[in-house]
Amino acid sequence: MHKKFIVANWKMNLSLSEAKKLVSNILKELKKKNPPKTNIILCVPYVYINILSQMTSGIRNVFIGAQNSNENNTGAFTGEISCSMLKSCGVDYLIVGHSERRSLYNESNKVAEKKILQSITNNILPIFCCGETLEARKNKTYFDSVNTQINESLFNLDKDQFSKITIAYEPVWSIGTGMTAELKEIEEMHKFIRNKIRNKYGKSISATTPILYGGSVTSLNASNIFGLLNVNGSLVGGASLNADDFMNIVKVLT
Ligand code: PGA
Repeated sequence: MHKKFIVANWKMNLSLSEAKKLVSNILKELKKKNPPKTNIILCVPYVYINILSQMTSGIRNVFIGAQNSNENNTGAFTGEISCSMLKSCGVDYLIVGHSERRSLYNESNKVAEKKILQSITNNILPIFCCGETLEARKNKTYFDSVNTQINESLFNLDKDQFSKITIAYEPVWSIGTGMTAELKEIEEMHKFIRNKIRNKYGKSISATTPILYGGSVTSLNASNIFGLLNVNGSLVGGASLNADDFMNIVKVLT
């Protein structure tokens, strides 16, 4: 049985009071009669992690994640935040390799690999983002793009390390654009990723690795996407900034 995940990626949005209000509205919704069984991971800005992890502490199925970390453990890296610091503030999950980090901050697959190792060492579960650009989609090299990202960032991990990984397939052209990938496109890429994991790490790890879809997911398109065989949830950007929109997506998956 796959675990199901809805991951909120708030990006660089919300004031502290807006952030607290959003979390308290989500928690209110969860207290209702039949709370969703889906795991909810809130990947919030660094500066809100401590306070929000206190708000969610002890609440079943709700976890705080970070959107980034530095790939080193400690030292003279002014302005940076390490995984050990994140863990000490209550972080359980970490987004690694998001396309905005790749395109705006030139993060390579090798840097993503280092972050994943730091994350696992510090007992934080990595959510690894992969996905092709519009150009790669158009020139039909999208399987190659995702193949290389996974090979270079994940496939040097041993079995035990890999078992900590969640993968989010996010076509770059669908992030924040309102252009969700077609169901067939999502289905074939998720199947490709699942088979790739099976060939490398075996049947049981491939069967339990959560593979999420991300890119303009809303409560309107979620039910079709979550109905696909190899989709175990979603990474949600824009629609995670409003409690109703977000919880409506969570409810579709439950
Ligand atoms: P979006 O963002 O849902 O706004 O497309 C997804 C993401 O950046 O992970």
